[in-house]
Amino acid sequence: MNDRELEKDRLREVVRNAYARVATAAPQAAGCCGPAPSSATACCGGAGINPVSAERLGYSAEDLASLPEGANMGLGCGNPLAIAALQTGEVVVDLGAGGGFDCFLAARRVGPEGRVIGIDMTPEIVAKAPANAVKGGFGNVEFRPGEIEHLPLADGVADVVISNCVINLPPDKAQVFREAFRVLKPGGRLAISDVVATASLPAEIRQDAALIAGCMGNAAEIGDIEAMLGAAEFVAVSMRPKDESKSFIRDWAPGRSVTDFLIAALIEAVKPAA
Ligand SMILES: C[S@@+](CC[C@H](N)C(=O)[O-])C[C@H]1O[C@@H](n2cnc3c(N)ncnc32)[C@H](O)[C@@H]1O
Repeated sequence: MNDRELEKDRLREVVRNAYARVATAAPQAAGCCGPAPSSATACCGGAGINPVSAERLGYSAEDLASLPEGANMGLGCGNPLAIAALQTGEVVVDLGAGGGFDCFLAARRVGPEGRVIGIDMTPEIVAKAPANAVKGGFGNVEFRPGEIEHLPLADGVADVVISNCVINLPPDKAQVFREAFRVLKPGGRLAISDVVATASLPAEIRQDAALIAGCMGNAAEIGDIEAMLGAAEFVAVSMRPKDESKSFIRDWAPGRSVTDFLIAALIEAVKPAA
């Protein structure tokens, strides 16, 4: 393995360890890691990952009331379902599914004829999500362990690929977009909420392990994401930065100048129809 591959593995391990700590933190300890509090608090097992309330991200009270306890870990940065336009019977893949938050909401929208598959690489997270599905009676949701750079899925199985605050984390985002393209059916859609960079990140942000695991330090620039989506052969690429996200991103790293460089955005793209 060359130095670059070793560095990618090291970064993945930093992220995996941080989310393992989030998953194993006592639920509700210090008012977090259960249903997310209304304001961010440094918590989550000391992982340095601060939850954002789902109301603040635009989820409806009705959606939130329909979720099994434990599914909402407060780890999103927007609402990909707001742009996914899910239809009854569709197959949805969620990249970095966490406790299953968006998977369960997607499952309600696609109905029993549809199917949702959540992928996550952190064993402690993947171990919890199926229990949430059982608690909520979701027979059409399954969770698979795996890296989103190497999806454990066949070609052309998904109508829609969603993701919430995850693609900023892996070191090789181009590979993630190629994989999303591979598993989509022709005409399939990509609907993502993620943290993106509006300017080149300074070294003190890029090299800070807590900021990397906290969805900031490894965020890609908007132009680079558009180029990666284009190179993966996606069309109709749209990136919509959300100004209001700066208020919670500021809370993620108090006293640091992160909002000079980072914002959450909704990202859409389409795999051309055959
Ligand atoms: C910020 S959390 C978001 C979780 C979920 N999407 C939500 O909104 O609650 C990031 C999640 O992505 C997972 N993750 C990070 N990098 C990953 C990768 N390369 N492959 C698969 N999962 C990954 C982590 O284990 C964690 O569960």
